[in-house]
Amino acid sequence: MRYVTDEQQIDPSEKQQWLPLLRRGFQLGWVSQGKRPDMPTAEQSARRWSNDQAVMLPGIIDVTAWKSEIDAAHKLMEATLDADELSSLLEQPPYSSRLAPLFPLVASSFEEHDEQGIEKVYFDAEQGEELLAENLWCKASWLSFIEEDASLRFRFSFGMECMEDVAADPERQLWAGRLCDTIFPESAAITENPVILANLERIVGGEPAFVERIVYFNAPNGGAQMHHDVERGHDGVVFAQLSGSTFWLALSKPELIDALIDFITDPNNSSEITRLLPESADRLQLAELLSDRAGLAAYMDEFDHELVEAVMDRSALFTSHLVAKGYAYILNAGDVLLMPQRDLDTCVWHAVTCLGDEPGEALSFAVRANKSAG
Ligand SMILES: [Fe+2]
Repeated sequence: MRYVTDEQQIDPSEKQQWLPLLRRGFQLGWVSQGKRPDMPTAEQSARRWSNDQAVMLPGIIDVTAWKSEIDAAHKLMEATLDADELSSLLEQPPYSSRLAPLFPLVASSFEEHDEQGIEKVYFDAEQGEELLAENLWCKASWLSFIEEDASLRFRFSFGMECMEDVAADPERQLWAGRLCDTIFPESAAITENPVILANLERIVGGEPAFVERIVYFNAPNGGAQMHHDVERGHDGVVFAQLSGSTFWLALSKPELIDALIDFITDPNNSSEITRLLPESADRLQLAELLSDRAGLAAYMDEFDHELVEAVMDRSALFTSHLVAKGYAYILNAGDVLLMPQRDLDTCVWHAVTCLGDEPGEALSFAVRANKSAG
């Protein structure tokens, strides 16, 4: 991969090989694909995972085999954007016939309390008279509040959002996963992929179960800011790009802390830090945080960590710093990225940017060893 912070650094004769990194209105540099990484062996993958490093499996999914399902998912995404709702779409073919009779649609809510929420659609799982699982849901949400960012996600879970400990009910977790399989059958590109399964079996120490699923459409100018996905009850996340391309930064929290300290304390970057944090009181507070590693680690876990976010998510120079250290990946259709999420201190933090002019579909599934025969 080649990376430059500024368009001026690109040779005009090579211009068509470069793509801008633009997320939520911030220009984060330019990238060019270059040489693709090699496929790691299962042993190398397991070693990287146990060292809290991301693992890229290039070209592991044959996306041509899932073309009609991926096309249908794009249509559902566009229709959701147009209609600003989801339940009416899931009551029409092909979804109505796929969902019946196992998953009756029982309710829906227009998440008015959640500014990013579009609609949450509830299903039960039933077999004849028998209720197998209740209160499963698929929720469509915006990824950001930015008007020009059409990024959308469909999240699958159950029960009371943010209130219920989903890890305490592995059986219902599996049912929420099956609901995702039904609406997005291309989920099998991960869940039935023999190489992904072999890698993950070794990593989680047993048959992998795919829980807490999200189907993403990252759109131009969209993506996700630097964050982690630690949650009790799963070991990490598997992300598969099925269409379009994304640029990733993925590194463990201790590596991210090292990078922040190196970058911010380097006198060569002082004008960039002043640009990002124009208030001297903010820069002073950041300097104090950098001198206390445990304090910085705790601050990063706060919901509002603006002083660090300003550097992590809005600076092409900091992006360049991370790329130079080997923490960047370009995912094309068929590529997979595995990200360990062991605990808050060691997890892989990651940031995503849509590459190119088209929104792409991606699957993001949490993984753990199967605890249920169900
Ligand atoms: Fe994530």
